[in-house]
Amino acid sequence: MKFFVDTAEVSDILELDKLGLVDGVTTNPSLVKKSGRDFIEVIREICEAVAGPVSAETVALDYEGMLAEGRKLGQLASNIAIKVPLTWDGLKACRTLTEEGRMVNVTLCFSANQALLAAKAGATFISPFVGRLDDINLDGMELIRDIRTIYDNYGFETEILAASIRGANHVSEAALAGADVATCPPAVLKTLASHPLTDKGLAAFLKDWEATGQKIV
Ligand code: G3P
Repeated sequence: MKFFVDTAEVSDILELDKLGLVDGVTTNPSLVKKSGRDFIEVIREICEAVAGPVSAETVALDYEGMLAEGRKLGQLASNIAIKVPLTWDGLKACRTLTEEGRMVNVTLCFSANQALLAAKAGATFISPFVGRLDDINLDGMELIRDIRTIYDNYGFETEILAASIRGANHVSEAALAGADVATCPPAVLKTLASHPLTDKGLAAFLKDWEATGQKIV
């Protein structure tokens, strides 16, 4: 499963990239606002920093507006994935932009039918928001499983990009469910290697090793 970082904070992206954890980046208007940065500038900087797909979201609600914004974003770098919302205009824009050879990430997906439409529109990625379904007491991971089944039933190549990831359990559950990608806040990615028994076991090994009085080098 690929790990994307869900942030517009360049410093976090660079830090995680050093750990070999960054297969791509996703942003959205809320994350851009949080960064306090100029949208075009920060997207351009992120695209230069990572080799993988970088999702940048359109904000127009109409087909023509999405095309204009998507084409402008697509010109920033070759690794741009244009994000469009899962609406009829977004699906139409997805088809046109993918036919023009651009990567498209269809976002704000909350149902299997929406994901089916995105795949039929040629989406490169579909972004089901797991956490936001959990927030209203629905099973977000069940949606990932359903999309996986549907896509495999018909051989759709659209990649399932599990989004709205709230913690480490979502990451392992998304992998078990067959997601192609999990896009995670930096804080979640940083916790993935942590386990209290690892810390306890390492401390015990080192205590016993010190007692031997030996050195390896
Ligand atoms: O990429 C989508 C993600 O940023 C949404 O996450 O926590 O706002 O539901 P959240």
